[in-house]
Amino acid sequence: MKIFSTVDETRAACRVARAHGKRLGLVPTMGALHEGHLSLIRAAKAQCDTVAVSLFVNPTQFGPAEDLAKYPRPFERDRSLLEKEAVAILFAPSADEMYPKGDMTWVTVEGLSERLDGRSRPAHFRGVTTVVSKLFHIIQPDVAFFGQKDAAQSAVIRRLVRDLNFSVEIVTCPIVREPDGLAMSSRNTYLSPNERLRALVLQRSLRRVEEEFRVGERSAAQLIAAASEVFAQEPQVRLDYFEIVDPDSLIPVEQVSHPTLVAVAAYVGSTRLIDNLVLNPQE
Ligand code: PAJ
Repeated sequence: MKIFSTVDETRAACRVARAHGKRLGLVPTMGALHEGHLSLIRAAKAQCDTVAVSLFVNPTQFGPAEDLAKYPRPFERDRSLLEKEAVAILFAPSADEMYPKGDMTWVTVEGLSERLDGRSRPAHFRGVTTVVSKLFHIIQPDVAFFGQKDAAQSAVIRRLVRDLNFSVEIVTCPIVREPDGLAMSSRNTYLSPNERLRALVLQRSLRRVEEEFRVGERSAAQLIAAASEVFAQEPQVRLDYFEIVDPDSLIPVEQVSHPTLVAVAAYVGSTRLIDNLVLNPQE
């Protein structure tokens, strides 16, 4: 695996990787890798000749009161996991390399960026779309892989690519879970054993909605009411949002009549966790 910390070296290596019609895949990450990240890398390997991974804890997508300083950065462990997956190119820049002093440019998907996580994390998606645009320009992948775990992020990025005519295919990969159902996340390491148990309420609320849907409930208000009952049993977990929305526009729906995203975010202690599922009436 070649490891680069500069934009120029990475650009040059990726240009070589794309030569002669070879297909280059990109998996953008913030590190602290787990099986969720590795599933994206494996999907990339299955579809591409070369896989590049970026590892960058992007400061612009963290709010002032968020966990940028304490975000885990186990670089050696990450490096060895990526070596084992036979990743060809690792781009791990510093913040100064990614954001030259005096930069003034942002990439924003207006409207969509204020929905779901964007409502409680103002400027979060602006940070994501800016850094992802930069990564697409530097690496110029044919395909980029994202996780369904961050369903709103995936919707924002699909819109970014469409609106700005990026020449990259976006693949969204399924959520990878712990054996008890908790969605894998780099932030799960923040949870105390007690909080780890309480965190299962996100998954329980989604399962409950799925059961109601299976027996015929199609009203979003009724499905949300069922989820609220589940959350009421775990009063120490503070719900941020529980929404039933169109997966592309992220606008709430009243009835589930086409594939629909059920998304939840909640604070377990000070840790903010997210999870989701897609309901498909055609299935
Ligand atoms: P990060 O949280 O490190 O996630 C990197 C990618 O892994 C994202 O596409 C995310 O959706 C995916 N992922 C995380 N947990 C997953 C799980 N349990 N199952 C499947 N995929 C999972 O998302 C980011 O970084 C950043 O916002 C980034 C896109 C890198 C921009 O900075």
